[in-house]
Amino acid sequence: MSEIEVIKNEIEQHIADVQDTKVLDDIRVAALGKKGQITELLKTLGTMPLEERIEFGKKINAIKAEIEASIVAKKQELEVKMLNERLKKEVIDVTLPCRPETQGRIHPVSKVYEEIVAIFAEMGFEIAEGPDIEDQFHNFNALNMPPNHPARQMQDTFYINDDTSHDFDMDCAYVVRTHTSGVQIRTMEKKHPPIRIIAPGRTYRSDYDATHTPMFHQVEGLVIDKKTTMADLRGCLYDFLKSFFEVDTLPVRYRPSYFPFTEPSAEMDIGCLKTKDELKIGAGTDWLEVLGCGMVHPNVLKAGGIDPNEYQGFAFGMGIDRLAMLKYGIPDLRTFFESDIRWIKNYGFTPLDFSSMTSGLSNNGGLAR
Ligand code: PHE
Repeated sequence: MSEIEVIKNEIEQHIADVQDTKVLDDIRVAALGKKGQITELLKTLGTMPLEERIEFGKKINAIKAEIEASIVAKKQELEVKMLNERLKKEVIDVTLPCRPETQGRIHPVSKVYEEIVAIFAEMGFEIAEGPDIEDQFHNFNALNMPPNHPARQMQDTFYINDDTSHDFDMDCAYVVRTHTSGVQIRTMEKKHPPIRIIAPGRTYRSDYDATHTPMFHQVEGLVIDKKTTMADLRGCLYDFLKSFFEVDTLPVRYRPSYFPFTEPSAEMDIGCLKTKDELKIGAGTDWLEVLGCGMVHPNVLKAGGIDPNEYQGFAFGMGIDRLAMLKYGIPDLRTFFESDIRWIKNYGFTPLDFSSMTSGLSNNGGLAR
């Protein structure tokens, strides 16, 4: 075998053995680069006699072409091999869901809370808050219910005794709030009219049956300005209830009522149709009570530091849980707070649907059911 064939075989062997494109490139440079073995051989052509030069030139050029071809082929082979290895490593199962399925559910009370906030926010109301453990001034006295006022018996209050005495003490300083109306006073103390707030939150009364639980939720509303009237109250509550129940028309009626902190006072009913196994909100022959309301009593304005000769306004209070029961057809309030996973799977909402006036309140499709 001639010397150049030995060199060629050696190079071909290297190419055959190589496992890496970088090393393959080194081999190419060592063979065909400016100072490569084959290039060096080509340079010797000039020193050869003509005949030999033609012969040798043909041979060496053929070898050069063969080596080049081998390198190209090997490069391709290595690239395919590397790609296959990468694909194997980075394999993705496209049949998997793009996100793990959400397990949690939004409680109907939280959902309705969000819906109420979305509607009133759209109407320009701010959200106000007050403490669950309330002093008797804010829960009763300032709301035109002085000590021994008979209206205090309207609500079954949980009193908080100070821990030095085990006697039941009607005059103890604190209660767990029986309603959110105390936030009316707290708001007036902090803010000058015009006032336009809602105050959603927990409330407590000693009561327990299918429509009452010791802890429940209310939302209070308070609007005070120079010329706020009962007509504003009616327009505001009508718009709210229509949006909340997602209906275009809704029969409503007001019945005269009594609350110490409003004068006049009313209870508001909405029309509905009760059948054997369904309750339809809207036109019908039946009425459902949904809230209490009225014009803020002058004594309440005074207690909140507002001059009743200059300002007037309206207030309302409604049960969030009750609204949730009506809107989503949940028959028993007690089940709301039993933490039964089957119940929440049935009545809960998927966490990724937000309530808003533009994207939709209840996102009907978003019901987890
Ligand atoms: N606080 C009253 C209740 O709990 C509701 C209410 C609020 C009524 C504001 C009138 C005005 O029953």
